[in-house]
Amino acid sequence: MTLIVRATLLTVADFAPYGSVISPDEQISNIDDSSRTANQGTAIKLLNVSQIDKKYPFDGTPNWNLFRCFCQPHLRGTKPIEHSIRVLEKHPYSSQTFIPMGCPRQQPCYLVVVALEDCNTGRPDLTTLKAFLCKGNQAVTYGAGIWHAPMITLGDQEYIDFGVVIYEFHDPQAPEKDCQEQHYDSSIKVEIFQC
Ligand SMILES: *[C@@H]1O[C@H](CO)[C@@H](O)[C@H](O)[C@H]1NC(C)=O
Repeated sequence: MTLIVRATLLTVADFAPYGSVISPDEQISNIDDSSRTANQGTAIKLLNVSQIDKKYPFDGTPNWNLFRCFCQPHLRGTKPIEHSIRVLEKHPYSSQTFIPMGCPRQQPCYLVVVALEDCNTGRPDLTTLKAFLCKGNQAVTYGAGIWHAPMITLGDQEYIDFGVVIYEFHDPQAPEKDCQEQHYDSSIKVEIFQC
């Protein structure tokens, strides 16, 4: 059986079961600006918009990693697209934040696909699978243990760079402490309708 999910635009509330987001347009429009000025009135500062998360038992270290994510040819352009998901992965002990660098602010330029864990099996609960189109001024934090597809970039750029924050063990004896994968045949498809 084929599972098809339709991608929707990322919002703070829709992503909340899977982690948190940094989405300035939405988050700043929801506050009273005058109470949040910073830097001698030249900035607005919001506290704690996204949460870095690590789970016990934990002795890993926080890292900034860099991902240069290449746009696959079938995901270029603006036509409606169907994309197959073949791998979901999770970082059982750490959140992971992706901050896009150099994408147009108002344009969807990457896609995140997430699922909650099935408590009985530890595997993805595909009934909770969701796909979100993210703009250049949105960053996402997958919560610790949240299943997600490897980054999917969209549009006409050759690649998109991301700064990525995660806690890692780097234990050669136990790489599964940092990352676990679940593989699928092509039975999970995401429909993407770009603007
Ligand atoms: C940050 O936000 C989270 C989620 O809303 C909340 O649980 C936490 O207590 C907040 N932390 C601080 C320091 O305000």
